[in-house]
Amino acid sequence: MKIGILTSGGDAPGMNAAIRAVVKSANHNNIEVFGIKHGYKGLINEDLIKLDNSIIDNISERGGTIIKTARCPEFIQEKGRRKGLDTLNKFGIDSVIVVGGDGSFKGAQKLCELGIKVIGLPGTIDNDLPYTDYCIGFDTTLNTILECIGKIKDTDSSHEKTTIVEVMGRYCGDLALYSAIAGGGEIISTPERKLDFEGILNKLSKNISEGKRDNIIIITERMYDIEELKKYIEEKLKISVRGTVLGFVQRGGNPSAFDRVLASKMGVKAVELLIKDSKGRAVGIRDNKIIDVSFCEVNNINTNKDIEYNLLKLLL
Ligand code: ADP
Ligand code: F6P
Repeated sequence: MKIGILTSGGDAPGMNAAIRAVVKSANHNNIEVFGIKHGYKGLINEDLIKLDNSIIDNISERGGTIIKTARCPEFIQEKGRRKGLDTLNKFGIDSVIVVGGDGSFKGAQKLCELGIKVIGLPGTIDNDLPYTDYCIGFDTTLNTILECIGKIKDTDSSHEKTTIVEVMGRYCGDLALYSAIAGGGEIISTPERKLDFEGILNKLSKNISEGKRDNIIIITERMYDIEELKKYIEEKLKISVRGTVLGFVQRGGNPSAFDRVLASKMGVKAVELLIKDSKGRAVGIRDNKIIDVSFCEVNNINTNKDIEYNLLKLLL
């Protein structure tokens, strides 16, 4: 057996820890590992690198991914995937571990259908894969958001101001919800439970009338024009409001201990599955146990992950 590993889609802190765990467990079983560079692009461009102990030394603590990542539209086409298969055959690689989000998992399933043994590891800060409680990168990003919001709160409370903070998550509200629950915000709006401008205004004006003059409003990206929302509140309440888009600062940084350990456990599990000749499985964590489910199950879930209503209730 020869394993290839690739990281695909948006990078997520902890991807390097997953790579390290895969290389170490594979080498322990005398299996070679190749890093496929820039996600599926590396398969199309034959851009692979042998991963050995010297390359993976001290990488767990680094954010990003040492084998790079990319979005690769060519791989969505049959022709691109065939080219990828040729590359794998040329290098004698029969097994591939894909670390990425839902798009990457669709590619992984297609690669599996071409006869390659493929295992997926959930690597996305969005935490939007419904089959797993946590994805690699989510915890680090959550902590980064909390750190940023903490700083905004210092100045907001000093000036008794309100700030709208836009966080990432694509179409999933977990980053917004968890950061608000962990002490970051008074009002949230997420794709799963969207408040309109008036809904946000009503909550804010209630808080202010009750004496809470500094408020953080956390919103998930892609939902509103933050400038428009800010202007609307300012005009209605005759107060000045700040707007901060946290942006890519959220995707970088040293992974948290949780993400490093989670990624390592998942990497070990992926190699174990391949040794047992399993294929087409996505590794996850549920109720604190490492699990694996079929790609069919993961990719056929048509509904988006729902928000944890029990937590959301605390903010209503
Ligand atoms: P993420 O994996 O973080 O959700 P994307 O949705 O951008 O990120 O997907 C990453 C890559 O996965 C795409 O650029 C493409 O190479 C591959 N991919 C996505 N959807 C498919 C698909 N339907 N078939 C094959 N490959 C896909
Ligand atoms: O999926 C991770 C993510 O950071 C999302 O939260 C965000 O919407 C998207 O990637 C940004 O993608 P790009 O790097 O292509 O701008």
